[in-house]
Amino acid sequence: MIKISPSILSADFARLGEEIRAVELAGADAIHVDVMDGHFVPNLTLGPPVISSLAKVAQKPLDVHVMVAPIDHCIDDYIQAGAHYLTIHAEATVHADRALNRIREKGAKAGISINPGTPVTVLQDLLHLTDLVLIMSVNPGFGGQSFIPRALDKIRAVRRMIDEQGLSVELQVDGGIKPDNIFAAAQAGADFFVAGSAVFSQPDYRSVIERMKENGNAGKKARQ
Ligand code: DX5
Ligand code: ZN
Repeated sequence: MIKISPSILSADFARLGEEIRAVELAGADAIHVDVMDGHFVPNLTLGPPVISSLAKVAQKPLDVHVMVAPIDHCIDDYIQAGAHYLTIHAEATVHADRALNRIREKGAKAGISINPGTPVTVLQDLLHLTDLVLIMSVNPGFGGQSFIPRALDKIRAVRRMIDEQGLSVELQVDGGIKPDNIFAAAQAGADFFVAGSAVFSQPDYRSVIERMKENGNAGKKARQ
C-alpha cells in the first residue's frame, strides 16, 4: 500500500493542531512538515519549537523535510523536537554520510532528498544509510507549483538502484502531486507521496486522500 503525507505548508498556520487532526482522521499516513530557512530555499517557515508542539498533537509520524543549509549542526534539535523521519538535502551538506549516520544514531529514520537539478547518482553511495529517498518534483520553497515530468525518470532510476542493492528504502516524491498524476509516479516506483495544495485546497480532505490512495495503489500494481 502506498502512503500519503499531507504537507502542512498549505494548511491554515493559525490552526495547525486542528488541521493535523483533520488530515489524520481523513486517512493521512504521516504529516509532512516543511522546514525552510530563507537561505537554502527562498521562504521561511518554522523550526524545532513549533515541531515540538506539533509532536504533542500528531498521532501519525512527523515526516520532517528540512530545507536548511548547512544542516549538520542542527540535526539533533529536530530529532529531539519529535521528527520521526528527518529528511535532509544532499545539496545542504558536504558530509551526507556522516549526517545520515547521525540521524539514525539519534533514533530517527534517515531521509535524503535531491532537487530537480541534482542527478540521482549522488545517492548511489548513500542508499545503504537511508530509510527514505525524497525526489523533489518541484524546486523547493513553495506549495502549489506544477509537477516537473522529468522527476518520473529519476523515480525509475532510484527505484532501480534500491532494488539492485536489495534495500527496503521508502521512495518519496514531493511537489505538484495530485490525484491525476499520482498513478504515473507510483507506476515509476514511488510509494510515499507528499501532497500539500492538493489536499488542503479541498473542503473534503478524506475524499481527496482516498482518491490519491486509490490511484496510487493502482499505479503501484501496474508496475508489478
Ligand atoms: C515544497 C515543499 C513541499 C510542498 C508541496 O518546497 O517541500 O512539501 O508543500 O506542496 P504541493 O503539494 O502543493 O506542491
Ligand atoms: Zn516538502
